[in-house]
Amino acid sequence: MTFKNIPSHIAVIMDGNGRWAKKRNLARIYGHIEGIKSLKSVIKTAIKYKIKYLTVYAFSSENWQRPPEEVVSLMELLDEYIKIELPYLIKNKIELQFIGNIEKIPEKSKSALLDAVQKTKNLGGLILTLALSYGSREEILNAVSKIAESIEKGDVKVKDISGEYFSSCLYTAGVPDPDLLIRTSGEYRLSNFLLYQTAYTELYFTRTLWPDFRGKNLVAAMKNYEKRIRRFGKTHI
Ligand code: IPE
Ligand code: IPE
Ligand code: MG
Repeated sequence: MTFKNIPSHIAVIMDGNGRWAKKRNLARIYGHIEGIKSLKSVIKTAIKYKIKYLTVYAFSSENWQRPPEEVVSLMELLDEYIKIELPYLIKNKIELQFIGNIEKIPEKSKSALLDAVQKTKNLGGLILTLALSYGSREEILNAVSKIAESIEKGDVKVKDISGEYFSSCLYTAGVPDPDLLIRTSGEYRLSNFLLYQTAYTELYFTRTLWPDFRGKNLVAAMKNYEKRIRRFGKTHI
């Protein structure tokens, strides 16, 4: 499959794990386990097509309100995923990064994450960002506080607060805005994901549940993206 234009940054809201499990009379955690297979398949395909950035929503700031058993299993899965996948990440030069308030993540999973980030730094391949304990409103508020503090200290002047400067205060600093955002499971909302960064992102919604979404589904989303005409508010030429 060849493409005329390939998104440089793809963001994914990996949704529908619970419903996938429910349909099979399984506990929700089995949906999350199967969802990891989807993530692996999507990463493999992203590498094949030389996507530069892949950002995946794994756990939202609101997901802390789920039943404690589910939260605990998700955190354990995170730890397991990172430990098992680290050699693959290194072998394929994937740089692991994260966005979100990871202070809330249990110590064991947090140290596995930080260790993997450290060990995959500057490898030069796909930049894989996990959104963990992530909330876009929190991210924006956090940026506003940082900026207000810098102004108060006299490090920055109000007139110097440009869009570029603001972006550099977000968790996503240094990563360009997504070109394509995919949400699985037939929900048509952003659920507090990358609200500032998706101003001109192309949105792709599919009814496929995340555990059923594999590399070929990513290719279908990219095929759809290829047909989009991005105007960014300008007249179409
Ligand atoms: C997405 O699947 C994974 C997380 C939010 C952690 P869900 O767990 O939200 O699955 P549904 O939406 O209930 O089917
Ligand atoms: C969004 O899914 C968060 C992740 C996929 C990690 P949710 O299942 O939490 O979103 P809502 O509650 O349906 O909006
Ligand atoms: Mg959901």
